Amino acid sequence: MDVPEVLLDADRIARRVRELGAEISADYSETGLVVIGVLKGSFIFLADLVREITAPVIVDFVSMSSYGSSTCSSGIVRVTKDPDVDVEGKHVLIVEDIVDTGWTLKMSCLAENLQAGGAASVRVCTLLDKPCRRKVDVHLDYVGFEAPNEFVVGYGLDFDGLYRNLPYIGVLNCEYQED
Ligand code: PRP
Repeated sequence: MDVPEVLLDADRIARRVRELGAEISADYSETGLVVIGVLKGSFIFLADLVREITAPVIVDFVSMSSYGSSTCSSGIVRVTKDPDVDVEGKHVLIVEDIVDTGWTLKMSCLAENLQAGGAASVRVCTLLDKPCRRKVDVHLDYVGFEAPNEFVVGYGLDFDGLYRNLPYIGVLNCEYQED
């Protein structure tokens, strides 16, 4: 198994997560929020982020899949778990580890479905944004870092199921297929 080159070390990630948590805490201090993590990639970022949020927070997850075991997005999104929480009247924050092509958020219609379910507001927070790969327009409200056009792994992000447990975000030296 290749050792990925460090792109963002654990300290840098932690500092940025603290900043995002402070910003989100201020924005939702009066209302509270429901954080909905998109599995599986968001699970570590979400776990750290919610511990930096001081506003009242409910945690839920959705599951969808767009990549299979390839480094190349297929544009096909399968929703395999809907939210359990009734979001009516609640302020919802969708949490992603990375927004790449934008297909996952767009094709799943997650934000639209939450709005249709009566959410008072729906925003998106992603740790990594890779705008150079965007295929469809997606509005992002909170962004941790802009990612380079490299295949990144660690801190929840995988390649073929591996590397999610790395405490840092690294670049994997693999054949990276452009769409
Ligand atoms: C990753 C990531 C996002 C999505 C972003 O998920 O967690 O959900 O890809 O890519 P996109 O903007 O091109 O759609 P993935 O499908 O790899 O599943 P995982 O979260 O289980 O790793």
